Amino acid sequence: MSRKIIIDTDPGIDDAMAIFLAFNAPTLDVLALTTTFGNVSVDLATKNALTLVEVAGVDVPVSRGVALPLVRKPLAAPDFVHGKDGFGNINYPAPKCQAIERNAAQTIVDLVHQYPNEITIVALGPLGNLATALALDPSIAGLVHEVILMGGADTESGNVTPVAEANIINDPHAADIVFQANWQVTMVGLDVTHKVLIDDAFLENVRDNNTQCGDFLYQVTQFYFNFYRKEFSIDGCYVHDASTIVYAMAPDIFTTKPGRVRVAVDGVAIGQTIVAPLDKQYVVDHWDNVPASNICVDVDSPRLLQLMADTLTK
Ligand code: RIB
Ligand code: CA
Repeated sequence: MSRKIIIDTDPGIDDAMAIFLAFNAPTLDVLALTTTFGNVSVDLATKNALTLVEVAGVDVPVSRGVALPLVRKPLAAPDFVHGKDGFGNINYPAPKCQAIERNAAQTIVDLVHQYPNEITIVALGPLGNLATALALDPSIAGLVHEVILMGGADTESGNVTPVAEANIINDPHAADIVFQANWQVTMVGLDVTHKVLIDDAFLENVRDNNTQCGDFLYQVTQFYFNFYRKEFSIDGCYVHDASTIVYAMAPDIFTTKPGRVRVAVDGVAIGQTIVAPLDKQYVVDHWDNVPASNICVDVDSPRLLQLMADTLTK
């Protein structure tokens, strides 16, 4: 039985890897891509999501989402990481297909009611669409099977500030709403994504063995690899977004712990995900009544990479 998923995304090079992985996964049924600002503007994210659907040759609707954070001043798009076009400046031809009329939040609400308790929302970018969908119809919290999100960090340092990860700091208020809602959240954060690296050989294998998406993925990832080489002297890149898809395919590849998450929404620690254990009462308790999330704390990296390679080269 395949798992129904909605992918909320800000494509984005590692988003592309994750989305192609999901399209290729026999156990996943991608019902829609919903787009958000983050790596690029929401208009460009929507155009890029349409490109991914066209390159993969799949019939998956794309629904445009939020353009701005709920409260905070928007951060500049990290074009030094994903390129001005979000795809490593390869200037790929514009897609021919169009996004659907319905916006992302409405798409999420409608699909969740169409498939009660069956849908997993996989969030690969800032969380404004999920927060907006909750505001539109709070009842969806009880009808979503799981939210698997790439974002945050428990004990690992941040990648935008010493404590904040990009998807969370881009919209900390939305993230705090998502972690406090009464649905099952699994946080695939930097604690695990910093333990998984892909290199050129991995991508060459996908390029040479996936005639549909391999060459596109290889092309767009060169810019990303150059950023990693320059910034971190790493030959390859971390597997951020695709790790959420692997979690949806095979959660046993990860080690998790329960934790109640709050997000710092201002000040020097803005965007920090602060994880409290379930059984601890604090003098100043901002974690009271926060439901337990599933925090990924470790990963079997060789198994993850093997599953990715097997799925992307089928
Ligand atoms: O911190 C990594 C996350 O931020 C990934 O989702 C990447 O695509 C960017 O959105
Ligand atoms: Ca992303």
